[in-house]
Amino acid sequence: MTFTLSEAAYRTDTPQAKEAMYADLRSQLQGLLHGESDWIANTANFSSLVFYSMPGLNWAGFYFLKTEDELVLGPFQGKPACIRIKRGRGVCGATVETRVPTVVPDVHAFPGHIACDANSRSELVVPVFSREKLIGVFDLDSPQPGRFDQTDASGVQSLVHILEQTLTA
Ligand code: SME
Repeated sequence: MTFTLSEAAYRTDTPQAKEAMYADLRSQLQGLLHGESDWIANTANFSSLVFYSMPGLNWAGFYFLKTEDELVLGPFQGKPACIRIKRGRGVCGATVETRVPTVVPDVHAFPGHIACDANSRSELVVPVFSREKLIGVFDLDSPQPGRFDQTDASGVQSLVHILEQTLTA
């Protein structure tokens, strides 16, 4: 594989700028995952691409459902994080229940939020599926309040959909 991370400095101050960033990241991700089906390699590279490309993040990574009721830490970028999260607990566990992306503009206002890094102020969690089955979540944290909105939720979901396709390719 030959892949060079884009040096682009993305803007995120308007919905249009965010859309353009996600379109570019989709294209980079297609190149990064092309021809590779190893799930650990792909989720590790996915985390790295997002963490080093999207401005304003302090953590980006996966939690996988190892049993019906518990998430376990997977590949990520950022500081060491909580390892096990019960279904329904925190933002990640809540997303397992709802099966749709969760945007948290202020983590201090989210009941049961699990603080792995005290610097985190806002969070976005997107569910990950294998066919119809929920297998885990992708979690992004930011030190900026209100860093994520619905454009980010849809944009990150579109990246996760590309990753999911490598599971069934
Ligand atoms: N804040 C998350 C826990 C995971 S860390 O942010 C990496 C939550 O409340 O589920």
